[in-house]
Amino acid sequence: MKILVINGSPKKENSDTMHITRAFLEGMNEAGGNEVKTIDVIDKHIEYCRGCFACMRNGGDCIHNDDMRPILEEILESDLLIFSYPLYCYGMPAPLKALLDRTLPLSSMAMHKVGERYEHVGQADFSHLKYLMICGCGFPNSQHNFEPAVAQFKLCFPNNHTMITVPESPMFKAPEAAEVTAPRLELVAEAGKQYAETGRIDEALLSEICSPMIPEDVYAQIVNGTVN
Ligand SMILES: Cc1cc2nc3c(=O)[nH]c(=O)nc-3n(C[C@H](O)[C@H](O)[C@H](O)COP(=O)(O)O)c2cc1C
Repeated sequence: MKILVINGSPKKENSDTMHITRAFLEGMNEAGGNEVKTIDVIDKHIEYCRGCFACMRNGGDCIHNDDMRPILEEILESDLLIFSYPLYCYGMPAPLKALLDRTLPLSSMAMHKVGERYEHVGQADFSHLKYLMICGCGFPNSQHNFEPAVAQFKLCFPNNHTMITVPESPMFKAPEAAEVTAPRLELVAEAGKQYAETGRIDEALLSEICSPMIPEDVYAQIVNGTVN
């Protein structure tokens, strides 16, 4: 399988979230070899979409000539897109949102009704693509936190999507937290293997992965103890 990891953390390989993503990929690779490419979005020159809609009108050509051109090609050549990113203000970091906006050339201006909502008709065929969101965050609570990011992901990618949201993710970089992070990453690897083999993750496993690793109040106390 051709996998494109779109790393939206400005911390690149030092991203807390990428600990989860790497464990997931290890699990996927256990089930069989994959071709994995990672894009660090922060390093890419991606202009903001100007909203001119030129790309939707004239066969998909954007007015900008920047790194988004090869990225669009890589997206279409992939089987699976993994959006790995930290929750920023209940959504995705701005550089990743800029990339998402610039996928507009893949759609045409025409819209059609699918179920109860309207979607743009594709200019490219991306029906083969699967979408995985892996999102870490700094608070211990998932509710009243991840919902906007989850809703956006589902609306952007209504088909073939899977979402992993992990609270308390700064713990992944703390060696003293290994007692709880190592078993969690093992579960993530198991999920990756399952996903590679069946195209889905068992609900019970997913909800365990998405739960806090230590009680919310204990986590908050630890974080507050490091604040001076
Ligand atoms: C600008 C900014 C906004 C943030 N907003 C949230 C938020 O809405 N909810 C949350 O739980 N954590 C929030 N965080 C914390 C990050 O999600 C957290 O530090 C995460 O572990 C960083 O992951 P990374 O190392 O993969 O970039 C925010 C951090 C920054 C820098």
